[in-house]
Amino acid sequence: MGGYTLIENAPLATRNTLRVDARAQLLAEIRDASKLPELLDFPAVRAGPLLVLGEGSNVLFTGDFAGTVLVMATRGVHVEALAASGKPVDSDGDSARIAVAAGERWDDFVRWTLGQGYAGLENLILIPGTVGAAPIQNIGAYGCEVAEFVESVEAWDTRERRVVTLDHTACAFGYRDSLFKREPGRYIVTAVRFVLPRSRPLRTDYAGIDEELRRMGVGKPAPFHVAEAVVHLRTRKLPDPAVIGNAGSFFKNPLVEAALAERLAREHAGLVAWPQPDGRSKLSAAWLIERAGFKGLREGDAGISNRHALVLVNHGKASGPQLWALAQRVMLGVHEKFGVQLEPEPLIIGAC
Ligand code: FAD
Ligand code: EPU
Repeated sequence: MGGYTLIENAPLATRNTLRVDARAQLLAEIRDASKLPELLDFPAVRAGPLLVLGEGSNVLFTGDFAGTVLVMATRGVHVEALAASGKPVDSDGDSARIAVAAGERWDDFVRWTLGQGYAGLENLILIPGTVGAAPIQNIGAYGCEVAEFVESVEAWDTRERRVVTLDHTACAFGYRDSLFKREPGRYIVTAVRFVLPRSRPLRTDYAGIDEELRRMGVGKPAPFHVAEAVVHLRTRKLPDPAVIGNAGSFFKNPLVEAALAERLAREHAGLVAWPQPDGRSKLSAAWLIERAGFKGLREGDAGISNRHALVLVNHGKASGPQLWALAQRVMLGVHEKFGVQLEPEPLIIGAC
């Protein structure tokens, strides 16, 4: 039985960054993606529901998982050849196509690309999690989204029971959204193919990067300078899961019609809103939560970070239901005050 390990009644507390003490009926850790069909054919695996897990940095367990938790632990980063010519894509020096196994750590991959002299992923440095999870919610930060660099996603289609390659268009990426979120449970991502340029215009106008570069004394930034600036900003703003359990932003920034954003701006001085190309506005959920009075709130060990109002934190031994109850209280409070419905960003597992 090579390529994977199976553990019954497995603890998950160290496998989710909110540090919720849940258990999986069966935990399957797979290191060889070609063994997926064999593993999925086990009667014990077929008998119950399946949950794919990377590093658990965007999930909230509200109870034990009565099925199989499949942890993707596959590794590999390959600069690929062009199918037609057989030449490496970057033989012209301009760009590279890179295939990355789902279980690789996202931040390690970003740092590897920067070290190899590729540009594009510098604004996405220090996001926790695996490469396989990156397309699920189309990870984004500091004005960039991973979708821009994803050529295709390779996945096991549990409905068709075969490997499929989904091109960029098929992935239907949106803000914290993709095909994979709209058809939950159907695809097990096994690898992601990126196309990265050697150079591109840097995005430094977003949320403090320019100021940070000035503070660093950098006049003509290269991608690695931008990455360093983002590391500084993220480290200052977001609580570290190694110190206090959290899943990053617990809510998405809500997209609302322009008329609602205009009315809210008239009624609430200082409302933070970003106009979108489609005419709608994205509101800062952190601002709404802070103004509704929840920043820094603590109920037992469940809390809202006093550093960033979008971050639900586990001060110690909060259970999944306690964390979820606080999150729902925040959603209700924001809706009562502003008439805006917040939506959780992480996958809530086991909640009805
Ligand atoms: P998990 O949490 O294990 O899973 C997340 C979802 O993806 C689940 O639905 C799971 O079933 C699914 N999934 C995972 N792997 C696969 C696979 N191989 N195939 C199919 N489905 C899969 N996100 C951002 O977008 N931007 C940020 O700036 C950001 N900052 C964060 C900061 C902190 C401190 C933390 C804790 C989280 C942050 N996040 C951010 C959220 C998180 O890092 C991302 O969502 C990340 O992609 C999750 O990776 P993971 O491997 O931990 O996925
Ligand atoms: N703000 C508050 N109170 C706070 C924190 C922020 O009012 O406690 C307001 C400020 O006005 C600030 C604005 O919110 O200017 C935006 O804050 P920030 O720059 O921290 O960004 P965000 O909108 O809160 C989003 C992403 C993050 C991503 C950052 C940086 C979502 C849901 N979150 O946060 O992603 O890292 O931008 O680009 O889109 C994640 O998804 O887990 C995540 C951390």
